[in-house]
Amino acid sequence: MVHASPRPLRAHAAGSLLGGTAAVPGDKSISHRALILGALCVGETRIEGLLEAEDVLNTAAAMRAFGARVERHADGSWSVFGVGVGGLGEPEDVLDFGNSGTGSRLVMGMMATTPIRAVFTGDDSLRRRPMGRVLEPLRLFGAEAQAGEGGRMPITLVGAREALPIRHHVTLASAQVKSALLLAALNAPGRTTISQSALTRDHTERMLRAFGAQIHVEPLETGEAISVLGEAELTACPIAVPRDPSSAAFPAVAALLVPGSEIRVPDVLLNPRRTGLFAALRAMGASLEVVNRRDSGGEEIGDLVVRHSPLSGIEVPADWAPSMIDEYPILAVAAAFAEGRTVLRGLEELRVKESDRLAAVAAGLKAIGVRVEELADGLIIEGMGRDVPGGGIIATQMDHRIAMSFLVAGLASRDPVAVDDTTMIATSFPEFCPLMRRLGANFAEPG
Ligand code: S3P
Repeated sequence: MVHASPRPLRAHAAGSLLGGTAAVPGDKSISHRALILGALCVGETRIEGLLEAEDVLNTAAAMRAFGARVERHADGSWSVFGVGVGGLGEPEDVLDFGNSGTGSRLVMGMMATTPIRAVFTGDDSLRRRPMGRVLEPLRLFGAEAQAGEGGRMPITLVGAREALPIRHHVTLASAQVKSALLLAALNAPGRTTISQSALTRDHTERMLRAFGAQIHVEPLETGEAISVLGEAELTACPIAVPRDPSSAAFPAVAALLVPGSEIRVPDVLLNPRRTGLFAALRAMGASLEVVNRRDSGGEEIGDLVVRHSPLSGIEVPADWAPSMIDEYPILAVAAAFAEGRTVLRGLEELRVKESDRLAAVAAGLKAIGVRVEELADGLIIEGMGRDVPGGGIIATQMDHRIAMSFLVAGLASRDPVAVDDTTMIATSFPEFCPLMRRLGANFAEPG
């Protein structure tokens, strides 16, 4: 594994507004799934707008290791020539997923019902994250796994020789766990049913339907049950990846915070299970409009128009968490610049992301002079309106979203804000710094 040396960066309030178009890259969740389902089809899956970031490129490399042909064309589109459900070959080498929980967990599911062996590892952050949450239910299909303490990587996974279909309830509000099990179900005979109380992102379900899988979703009193018929034959179909709302969040909040700003973010994914942040910001008083709403390959997309707005603190209902789970660090920054108190609850899952995000956000807010209380499952933030002191150096803890969130804070605080490392931003949004600079952000290497 190559460890790049840390690249710190400092954000200054430019004294000028942010303006223009922020064409953020493709959605990370959909990009991983497009490569994986492409590998499970026979024939060519053509993908437009794939996110070309480290996390997704690691998934592409894994698909090659399982025998799929994955190619990038000169026009930036990609093709996957799959091996079919049940046709995966055994990787010759260890699979390194870098920083990506999503890539690694989904791929564990994908191979768990095929009798092959693979070894999974990742960077220091990924090797600290819990994997028992996927390995335990994958054992029900007949897979065998050897993991380090607490179900951590490196992990050797041996897929089931004779896979069984399962009925299983996922208690965690995790789309990764749900998706891993749905992917495993594809090569188990008969019907597998996975239920979940939380309504987590449903890209796997939508894409499986588009690829011709027999999938049925039944609403429950709390949550839903998804059943998939195994030994599926998937039919390749073209995929246009919408732009990532979780990446759009950073320029959007920057425009809200920097006086006089107005930006447009085109073609953003508006799947209702992903747009909780936009609803929360509107409830805080944000001018955040969606125009040109349309359908793109089974997903709703639209253009966001965001204008600088004074914000007020709110209580974000705990049951909004699944629809904005990756957006709490940037929402916490917006809350710091709001008038009044913001209360965020129901966030125990944030403790096991790329970093312990509750602790990292609380420490970061304190470092820039904001009063914050860290709860077991949330944060209480005392907003300071326009008058956030800034200063300090933020410990990003190998977490791309902590780095981007605090660089945005520095664009509107009194004193500049420095982050100790920006290299991890390449895991999800490699164009972040140049894109923000084009909008007018003042980012400088600390001298
Ligand atoms: C993702 C699910 C979420 C999210 C992650 C992407 C996915 O993780 O945080 O960035 O693509 O399924 P959890 O399933 O752990 O909540």
